[in-house]
Amino acid sequence: MSLILGIETSCDECSASILIHEGGGYSPVSTSTFSQIELHQPYGGVVPEVASRNHLEQIDPIIWDALQKAKVEIADLDAIAVTNRPGLIGALLVGVTAAKALAYVAGKPLVPVHHLEGHLMSAFLKSPKTGAPKIEFPAVFLLASGGHTNLHCVEIPPESWAPTLLSDSLAGSSMDDAAGEAFDKSAKILGFPYPGGKWIDLEASKGGNPSAFDLPRGLKQKDSLSFSFSGLKTAVALLVQRLAKEGVLQDALPDVCASVQEAIVDPLVRKTLVLQKMKGAKSVVVVGGVAANSRLRARFSSDSPVPVIYPDLQYCTDNAAMIAAAGAIRYAQGYGLMPSDFLRLNAFAIAEH
Ligand code: KG4
Ligand code: ZN
Repeated sequence: MSLILGIETSCDECSASILIHEGGGYSPVSTSTFSQIELHQPYGGVVPEVASRNHLEQIDPIIWDALQKAKVEIADLDAIAVTNRPGLIGALLVGVTAAKALAYVAGKPLVPVHHLEGHLMSAFLKSPKTGAPKIEFPAVFLLASGGHTNLHCVEIPPESWAPTLLSDSLAGSSMDDAAGEAFDKSAKILGFPYPGGKWIDLEASKGGNPSAFDLPRGLKQKDSLSFSFSGLKTAVALLVQRLAKEGVLQDALPDVCASVQEAIVDPLVRKTLVLQKMKGAKSVVVVGGVAANSRLRARFSSDSPVPVIYPDLQYCTDNAAMIAAAGAIRYAQGYGLMPSDFLRLNAFAIAEH
């Protein structure tokens, strides 16, 4: 059994979590998260300098809160795990510096974590409602967040993941905007607050017709596992302009949102299932903020021949429990760093997989 503190500050969530790793299970004991969404909303997106400054204010109380909620002392920890790549560099540095200071003072090993490995691990976290997830391998992972859209084919359970897992398993990714970014940019054009994915979802659910408007699908070739969403925002802007000019935009909003949503969800579902079939995968796992989308879930449940697994909603968006879980596997494999190594540890905005 090991007790891990996870720290996540790569974008606009400041989060700390205490997790127990035991017998191949990953149980979050406490997770404390401060979301900066309201701070960035007036700007329509994340402002990096605002993010770093706020992480600096939040990081100590958030770590303290997670420890207190779990009734854990720093001395009880086996290791400290922290996201050190990829993300906003100023934001990452706050988490990495806090983790280094804490690990140094407490004499604990430090485990650097790749944020995307954290997202993959979010699917293995034990849920208070549904217990431990049952993921059969090979499994296809769709990682769809505000910053990334990746397809991974994972052959083995996390305990045996090599440090090169992300690059070894990568089967496809977006060539331009991420799926969440496509939702957010379209939502901005439609006048919804940041982040707009959930507003498009909500508006579409008011009886919107997904095929009301024909919006472009990038890289339609049957066997392509790459995504492209950058053409969508121009098409949405032109459509909104035309409907506004005709004075029918307000009434057409559910149809517009359902069509935009379909233009993003359709390639996500189709390409994930192409990979599932190609690899004979026994399960599909969907992680990242876009996993919350109701149309995506409906499409997978009608189209997928194998079980589709989602993390609890609280673990879909950025959180430190998934970082603690990714750190736990690396710690168990002997990748915990001691001060002579971790004092040189840096943060990286863009990391090679
Ligand atoms: O995983 P996440 O916190 O982002 C990164 O780590 O980058 O996910 C945030 C993204 C945002 O783009 C947000 O609009 C999107 O997830 N999102 C949704 C929904 N809920 C959140 N997109 C579509 N439908 C939703 N219901
Ligand atoms: Zn993320």
